[in-house]
Amino acid sequence: MFELRAPSRAEWLKAVMEDLDSFLVDHAACERKASALGMSFVVRYPDRHEMLDELIAFSREELEHFHVMYRVLRARGLSFANDYQDEYVGALRKLVRTGREERLLDMLIVAGVVEARGCERMGLVRDALPEGELREVYVQLTRAEARHHGLFFRLARLYFSDTAIQERSSYFLDAEAQILDLQPLHARLH
Ligand SMILES: [Fe+2]
Ligand SMILES: [Fe+2]
Repeated sequence: MFELRAPSRAEWLKAVMEDLDSFLVDHAACERKASALGMSFVVRYPDRHEMLDELIAFSREELEHFHVMYRVLRARGLSFANDYQDEYVGALRKLVRTGREERLLDMLIVAGVVEARGCERMGLVRDALPEGELREVYVQLTRAEARHHGLFFRLARLYFSDTAIQERSSYFLDAEAQILDLQPLHARLH
């Protein structure tokens, strides 16, 4: 499994809770991007039938989360923001190797690590929210996200040895902790 090297800083949670609306707008975008990421595997590896069914289901679930977040935004009178480059995900993707097989392993691991961080952070927001509808949304979403990093780990095991997965996971987990640390404190998921 993907065990994060470092917990999120308390200052991050503070920044989020101080500007919850901005965070919610960003979170909605992250759900949409997660759905698109799932489908990008389907487009790139159409012959890998052992993983496609689960990836299509994953993309649908993330799209469902996007829909949930859209309703949250609507209820608060908020709209989607212009799209921007997610520096955190971008920095991780830069470390992905070229070559069809290497790329597949690295992308599955990056997806898993990003899911693990998303799950950790949604759990922190859930715990910081007062009782109510929004907290319930985060209870549900965190529960779903907790399955996702395990999914990508399992999919990697369909095609790659434990040693190869171990080695690349370790590399990406170290990198993730460093990259996260470089991000400015803002009310975003990453
Ligand atoms: Fe999600
Ligand atoms: Fe997810």
